Amino acid sequence: MWVSTFCSGDPSVFEPYWRKNGGKCTITISGHDSLSYFSDPNSVCWYMEPELQEAIRRVHRVVGNAETEGCHVVAGTGSTVLFQAALYALSTSSSSVAAEPMKVVCAAPYYSQYKEQVELLQSRLYEWGGDAETFDGSAAPFIEVVTSPNNPDGSLREAAVANKTGNGKLIHDLAYYWPNYTPITRPADYDIMLFTLTKCTGHAGSRIGWALVKDVEVAKKMTTFMQITTIGVSKDSQLRAAKILDVVAEDCEQHAADADKTFFGESRKLMAERWEKLREAVKDKKDVFTLPKYPKRYCNFSGRYFQPAPAFGWLECKEGCDASALMKAHNVLTRGGETFGVSSRYTRISMIGREEEFERFIERISGIQCVDEEDEEEEEEEEGFVVMNGNNGGDVIRLGNENSNSHGKWLEQVEVQ
Ligand SMILES: Cc1ncc(COP(=O)(O)O)c(C=O)c1O
Repeated sequence: MWVSTFCSGDPSVFEPYWRKNGGKCTITISGHDSLSYFSDPNSVCWYMEPELQEAIRRVHRVVGNAETEGCHVVAGTGSTVLFQAALYALSTSSSSVAAEPMKVVCAAPYYSQYKEQVELLQSRLYEWGGDAETFDGSAAPFIEVVTSPNNPDGSLREAAVANKTGNGKLIHDLAYYWPNYTPITRPADYDIMLFTLTKCTGHAGSRIGWALVKDVEVAKKMTTFMQITTIGVSKDSQLRAAKILDVVAEDCEQHAADADKTFFGESRKLMAERWEKLREAVKDKKDVFTLPKYPKRYCNFSGRYFQPAPAFGWLECKEGCDASALMKAHNVLTRGGETFGVSSRYTRISMIGREEEFERFIERISGIQCVDEEDEEEEEEEEGFVVMNGNNGGDVIRLGNENSNSHGKWLEQVEVQ
């Protein structure tokens, strides 16, 4: 049986665009290229190709989503490794060498990988401190990660605790602050800003991310982390990423008066269409689950108001219901709220997968039906249907056309929660 996996954030949604326009990004790498570890001995990030640095600054300039002036650019194998590099740099800076590991916090729901990365090597420099909203930041220096727009719920965020206490050092993960997902309201201007090609253009497999860093000492430490862990970043990937970003930036410059014609414009339209389909599919299921509402904002890049269309849908079910188990019963694998530090009433679905998978998902979610309580008894007797009564004694959900074994399992999971 086909099982749709909506738990990963693999950004294949932009593949059709690149199939149509990818020819412009072709580069040739000869046998004699990329032999040396070094790229630019005059730059803090000595392994970074100057073309990539230029292309990154150019794309931020034309999109207007980040202030690059006065920032050092540090390249990484995706932004994942740069998160670790930033943790290393911030937890070893001379002003904050601590006897205890520094706590790393992020407001819940948070991107699940932060916790996994912080805990993986059981470092003596830092440790996971959980939800920033409930963290007491008055005692010792700590690191707060701010993800905006947030993965998983698409909210626009500012620091929850760091600005209140003066003890916190900030890492801003701005992976989704691009016009394909959200209106660009101002250039972001923070101490450490992480970006990635993965969510900007969809080229996750190229594994290119970058950090814009204000403090040169922090940038040097991040580069040292990269030097010791991987001795740099693939030059072949850097050159390809530079070309892709240049093509995107040039396209934006050429269509400055009509942003809809750019990569970002077309991608935003696609994302908006998907969100419309999702909202349509759940609109008569308010008793089962709801989606967040995002207000329209003016986008400086597009020159108009639009509603954010985040990379993930954040479904909220009624109290007592396990949202990812509900989706699993419909053969849709999603990532449950507990992974993101909140209740299992929530689950995350990817909006950036392949078209056919997305359509299949919409079909399945449309198949979830609400049943009036008085119909419950009758429905329970019907063969091939399972009735799930929410623990709060509220609405009843009927799951149709599914194999009874998987329903049985799902009911067990729901009942023990
Ligand atoms: C908020 C956030 N930051 C970072 C990443 C990792 O990106 P990369 O592929 O550059 O490692 C992701 C990937 O899903 C993400 O959602």
